[in-house]
Amino acid sequence: MASFLLFLSLPLLFFSPVSSSSSPSSLPDDQIPKSYIIYMGGSNVEDDESDMKVAESAHLQLLSSVIPSDEGERMSVNHVYHHSFRGFSAFLTPSEASLLSGHDEVISVFRDPILKLHTTRSWDFLDQQSRFGSKFQHHYHGLFASTDVIIGMIDTGIWPESPSFSDKGLGEIPKRWKGVCMEGSDFKKSDCNRKLIGARYYIHQGGFGKYSNSTATKSNVSARDHDSHGTHTASTAAGVQVRNASYFGLAQGTAKGGLPSARIAVYKACTLDNCAGSTILKAIDDAVNDGVDIISISLGMDLLLQADFLSDPIAIAAFHANQMGVMVVCSAGNSGPDPFTVVNTAPWILTVAASNIDRDFESTLLLGNNATFKGSGITLSNLTISSQYPLAFAGDAASAFTPPSEASNCYPGSLDPTKVAGKIVVCLNSYPTISRRIKMLVVQDAGARGLLYISNVEKGVPFDSGAFPFTQVGEDDGIQIQKYIKSTRKPTATILSTVAVQRYKPAPIVADFSSRGPGELTENILKPDIMAPGVAILAANILESEPGQDPVGKKPSKFAIKSGTSMACPHVTGAAAFIKSIHHKWTPSMIKSALMTTATVADNTGRGLTNSSGGTANPHETGAGEISPVQALNPGLVFPTTTEDYFHFLCYSGYTEKILRSLTSTKFSCPKVSSDKLISNLNYPSISIGELKRTNDKRVTRHVINVGSPNTTYTATVRAPEGLRISIFPKKIYFRKGLTTATFNVSFHGKEAQKGYNYGSLTWFDGLHRVRIVFAVNIVD
Ligand SMILES: *[C@@H]1O[C@H](CO)[C@@H](O)[C@H](O)[C@H]1NC(C)=O
Ligand SMILES: *[C@@H]1O[C@H](CO)[C@@H](O)[C@H](O)[C@H]1NC(C)=O
Ligand SMILES: *[C@@H]1O[C@H](CO)[C@@H](O)[C@H](O)[C@H]1NC(C)=O
Ligand SMILES: *[C@@H]1O[C@H](CO)[C@@H](O)[C@H](O)[C@H]1NC(C)=O
Ligand SMILES: *[C@@H]1O[C@H](CO)[C@@H](O)[C@H](O)[C@H]1NC(C)=O
Ligand SMILES: *[C@@H]1O[C@H](CO)[C@@H](O)[C@H](O)[C@H]1NC(C)=O
Ligand SMILES: *[C@@H]1O[C@H](CO)[C@@H](O)[C@H](O)[C@H]1NC(C)=O
Ligand SMILES: *[C@@H]1O[C@H](CO)[C@@H](O)[C@H](O)[C@H]1NC(C)=O
Repeated sequence: MASFLLFLSLPLLFFSPVSSSSSPSSLPDDQIPKSYIIYMGGSNVEDDESDMKVAESAHLQLLSSVIPSDEGERMSVNHVYHHSFRGFSAFLTPSEASLLSGHDEVISVFRDPILKLHTTRSWDFLDQQSRFGSKFQHHYHGLFASTDVIIGMIDTGIWPESPSFSDKGLGEIPKRWKGVCMEGSDFKKSDCNRKLIGARYYIHQGGFGKYSNSTATKSNVSARDHDSHGTHTASTAAGVQVRNASYFGLAQGTAKGGLPSARIAVYKACTLDNCAGSTILKAIDDAVNDGVDIISISLGMDLLLQADFLSDPIAIAAFHANQMGVMVVCSAGNSGPDPFTVVNTAPWILTVAASNIDRDFESTLLLGNNATFKGSGITLSNLTISSQYPLAFAGDAASAFTPPSEASNCYPGSLDPTKVAGKIVVCLNSYPTISRRIKMLVVQDAGARGLLYISNVEKGVPFDSGAFPFTQVGEDDGIQIQKYIKSTRKPTATILSTVAVQRYKPAPIVADFSSRGPGELTENILKPDIMAPGVAILAANILESEPGQDPVGKKPSKFAIKSGTSMACPHVTGAAAFIKSIHHKWTPSMIKSALMTTATVADNTGRGLTNSSGGTANPHETGAGEISPVQALNPGLVFPTTTEDYFHFLCYSGYTEKILRSLTSTKFSCPKVSSDKLISNLNYPSISIGELKRTNDKRVTRHVINVGSPNTTYTATVRAPEGLRISIFPKKIYFRKGLTTATFNVSFHGKEAQKGYNYGSLTWFDGLHRVRIVFAVNIVD
């Protein structure tokens, strides 16, 4: 009984101001106030500072109804959202949060999640000229020189001195721009220019009072990027042309973003790897109000934390951004190749998977017996072809009491430095939980001279080991190498510095790490939507680096090579900006449709897209295919998805009409019949049917707008696996006499189809435009 009383009285003791010196560690975890997001729906007032004050005082009143009056110091809000949606973040206990969630005005209350950047953090650098960049800019730049598109980057900030953000030749900042350039400890107003037109940063308070985990102390308080992720993504989306970009002289080329004439506004919502949900909400709210056209978000929720669309900060804010005509492009995540790993799956988000490009990085391994192997890796190895170094298998170099299995995988603490110092160490990959980066650090710490890594996993994603000699070979080559080690008393090897291989085939292929569909929250929307280059992408870098990363005596490179869906996302952002710069009036869903229906489904050998193990890639890996921005300029037909469609989607997902009414000021009601299955009917530029019984038929309807020739006839063709029967009605669409819209139905009959997902596409063709929509239909018995 005594302990029970103690338990109850503790919170009062700790949170009364007089006892602030008490130790926090003894407070039960469920009593510690934590950051929560209180989401209250759409905003219907024109914002200004006074509204913010009004909103804040209303929020404080709401808080005072749940926070005990003797905890007055907690009576404050961290962020107020009041532009395109309403809500705030504050420190609450779980019971207070649950009280608030019952409040009439409140839609959802959820713990402030920490989101992760979608980079694999392979600290890579090198050449540039993405396939995508070279493909269209030559033709179109200058021809339609609209410099009015503004891209908002929600990321780790920016390195403003990078040549990629020069404003040379750019005209006045668009008049509608309402953003600011916030000064900070290492960021001046003059760091903004006519290219980088806005910069905001946010301080995330990780905890309340003495539980504080403020990240502000860890990195400087400004919009400056200390991670390089944000600088890299911003330059991929909209960096200007920089000639002779290279990594320490290797593989030179011209670096540039998708739309070099676009303006950039940065919203630093992340510090290092962490991005608080409450801060992301604030950043998107600000970006929309500042006047950006497109928002690029290369980060996402942890897979396990995805609960529903209205407790996901990106989904919530993107919904309202979309209502305001602002397009939101997000990365799909790096949790592949397993299915059900894609995040950012709301239908109002354009979700981007990652592919390789037609360039590979090889670091050659030369053994003492003169055998050579083409390894994969980005290394500035200073080892030379003329000298050999002792080669040791890590499994033979275990430290005392370490099982050889741990040592052979270069597990932390498993290697005996006296056995590996000065040698090239061979590590395997049968503990898939340790990254290449960790293995490298383990080997490096033990004093080794280099790392030869044997694994088929991520072989197509060259790891950047900086100055440390590294190469990765497949398991077949690994067998040869191990044979050689056993065959001689003094095995030796050398790892040569990386060379870039151009016009590599096949490309694109789906990156191993790229997250796969179907989406966990609903299988009736096909996700990811589209694929773009995300492997070994060269873009702007910060001029700060980790110790040992750069070759001895060299300054950090102005360009870095990185991999991740984080790098794929800004390619699509840039492509969307390109389309927007020419079709000013197009809505986000029209741009999305144009990108999706014109995507490429063949690689540079002319065959269908494949994944990293050589299998045929399906739409749960590639979405509609690899972006093809030039084609997307002239799609013929587009599938417009309206705000009403999105509301229907939310009705079908189980949200009540009462909740949905508070998201908007427009009149709206849910259809009488609501079921998850009806989501397939959303007017989306792809089709997904999460479950189709063999005995049933399923009909979906789509509407198109003709944005091509006014007098034209489209005919449909279908590609489907054997057994899946598909009928389209009508089979021909005539656009005549000012008619610009049409409706068609697609019926699926799976009686003789194979069980599980069936993939295919239907294409409308008018002799000029190919409008392709992919489908995924899951047949169940
Ligand atoms: C923060 O800024 C100060 C000066 O403005 C600088 O000396 C310091 O290195 C910066 N810290 C980081 C982590 O960049
Ligand atoms: C505080 O930060 C530390 C280290 O960055 C982290 O391990 C811990 O989980 C954080 N605590 C909270 C409550 O966010
Ligand atoms: C291009 O860059 C390389 C390496 O940074 C440098 O050695 C070379 O002089 C540069 N060439 C031109 C024309 O600027
Ligand atoms: C490897 O090649 C070098 C030079 O071509 C030659 O001198 C050496 O004998 C060769 N070693 C073996 C083991 O074949
Ligand atoms: C090669 O690089 C290592 C560090 O990565 C350095 O210690 C060593 O001195 C360099 N050797 C030569 C010959 O430059
Ligand atoms: C690649 O696709 C094949 C089917 O075509 C599949 O069996 C395999 O698991 C896929 N591999 C990866 C790495 O996704
Ligand atoms: C429309 O196209 C049809 C068939 O291509 C043609 O016969 C007709 O003259 C065209 N009408 C106009 C107004 O261009
Ligand atoms: C498509 O199907 C719907 C019912 O699902 C029907 O009302 C409509 O008339 C059909 N449209 C066409 C063009 O066949």
